[in-house]
Amino acid sequence: MDNHKPVTTMSLKRMKRENEPIAVITAYDYPTAKHAEEAGADVLLVGDSLGNVVLGYDSTLPVTIADMVHHTKAVTRAARRSFVVTDMPFLTYHGSIDNTLRHAGKIMQEGLAKAVKMEGGAEIIPAVEACVKAGIPVMGHLGLTPQSVHQLGGYIIQGKTDSKANKLIEDAKRLEEAGAFSIVLELMPESLASHISAQLTIPTIGIGAGRGCDGQVLVVHDILHIGDPQPKKFVKQYADIGAQMRQGLQAYVSEVKNRQFPAEGHVFEVKETSVTHLYGTDKQS
Ligand code: KIV
Repeated sequence: MDNHKPVTTMSLKRMKRENEPIAVITAYDYPTAKHAEEAGADVLLVGDSLGNVVLGYDSTLPVTIADMVHHTKAVTRAARRSFVVTDMPFLTYHGSIDNTLRHAGKIMQEGLAKAVKMEGGAEIIPAVEACVKAGIPVMGHLGLTPQSVHQLGGYIIQGKTDSKANKLIEDAKRLEEAGAFSIVLELMPESLASHISAQLTIPTIGIGAGRGCDGQVLVVHDILHIGDPQPKKFVKQYADIGAQMRQGLQAYVSEVKNRQFPAEGHVFEVKETSVTHLYGTDKQS
């Protein structure tokens, strides 16, 4: 992949054809998006996982369109080359097509995302088709779909029976036919995700779906260990930023309490002749 040209839906499809892995990282704010882009991420996903890792909810269900637009704006201000995809939150694409388009439109027009992501299979095909017809690129999301966590009975591996695996294979084909440019495959056996990936001409992006996908996505807070992430088998931790943050913050608090900060080099002074006569120069007075 040319490291300067902006990533597009076409270049992502070309990467699949040329067997070049696609690197996707979630981002929810300006500095993280900038670091991820500079690290070479092809796609920045403003995931509704921000509900868990940024807003402190215990699921993605409370996340709103306003939340997604707010965070997307920050990410798109940083993204020059990376392709920004934003999640449509819970229940924003299941009602009327008018509402679906209004919500997707906000993400594109106000957030300036390049595409939206929707969870689900056959049941969301009309929503996918309507967006694609309106010129909005759609990324699908199959397998463990966190917005349906209560229906699925928890964050558990999907597609473990023949009928469930077949349904996922069919759903993936339907999404491709409906015009989706890519599909996230979450938490399913490697053999199933590899099979789905081989059946499609659009790229699959795996998370807990093994090595046969065309790309991989992970939540930035998981790979950098920011906050209090739960250990997950499919996550590899590449840094411990949380520990560094705590260390730095503890040092600051301790220096404030011990009057070590601010030190001489951090303060401003004015010349005797200007305003010091108002209050003297003795800091203790
Ligand atoms: O919300 C999110 O971050 C996601 C990824 C985990 C795929 O959907």
